[in-house]
Amino acid sequence: MSISLTTLEKIVRDAGAIALTHFRDLKNLEISKKSPRDFVTAADVAVEHFLQETLTQHCPEFGFWGEESGQSANQNARWIVDPIDGTHSFSRGQYFWGISVALEVDGELMMGAVYAPALNDYYCAEKGAGAFKNGIPIKVSSESKLDDAMIGTGFACLRSYLEDNNLARFGRIAQKTTGQRRFGSAAVDLCLVADGQLDAFWEQELNLYDVAAGALIAKEAGATLTDFKGNPGLFPKQILTTNGLLLDQILPLM
Ligand code: IPD
Ligand code: CA
Ligand code: CA
Repeated sequence: MSISLTTLEKIVRDAGAIALTHFRDLKNLEISKKSPRDFVTAADVAVEHFLQETLTQHCPEFGFWGEESGQSANQNARWIVDPIDGTHSFSRGQYFWGISVALEVDGELMMGAVYAPALNDYYCAEKGAGAFKNGIPIKVSSESKLDDAMIGTGFACLRSYLEDNNLARFGRIAQKTTGQRRFGSAAVDLCLVADGQLDAFWEQELNLYDVAAGALIAKEAGATLTDFKGNPGLFPKQILTTNGLLLDQILPLM
């Protein structure tokens, strides 16, 4: 790999410093709407610009796909970036937001990093080499009873016009679990499954840049990745990740 996890961490942490500068000056934060209920701020744009410049300087052979700037150059080997996942939370001064950076080569996720600067947590993984939080190996929870589980999800707030807006599914699962959380960043949610803080997470209608890094981190920590029917793989439009022990219990409720 032409970049090490250590070098990637330095770059992503530098991006986090840019995000925190804006986060500490929210009263002057420029914010606009890309579409109803879908926000972008000057921080999203500044972080993505820094990452595109820096990553393509380090690895000119890789293209780039950022949520705010779109796809450029080689898309067979590319960085997939969500500069701030959880922009709405960020804009309100809440702590659950993350910078998500993944490297995908020929359709395979090879490296992933999710940095939550306000939580001071850095998650990363390299394919086949395990998952880490702040340099310490992490793994999924050992919760085997759905009734005792804590699950996370996100509502298709941006897509509430959808007939399947996740509310009925959430109601079914909430009745069968002890804890339910909607933190506001799918990228961070996936890392919480990897770290055993959540036992499962699901969401619909996401994009690859929301989930690429978090999905690799979760998988390297022992999580299952399927669609809502249990088909194995990464399906941003129907992502379900579990600690493996709960998959068969949660599928009938999806
Ligand atoms: C959003 C977050 C949120 C999810 C939304 C996404 P953004 O990403 O991941 O948790 O529920 O669907 O759009 O827009 O803040 O990058
Ligand atoms: Ca996102
Ligand atoms: Ca974003």
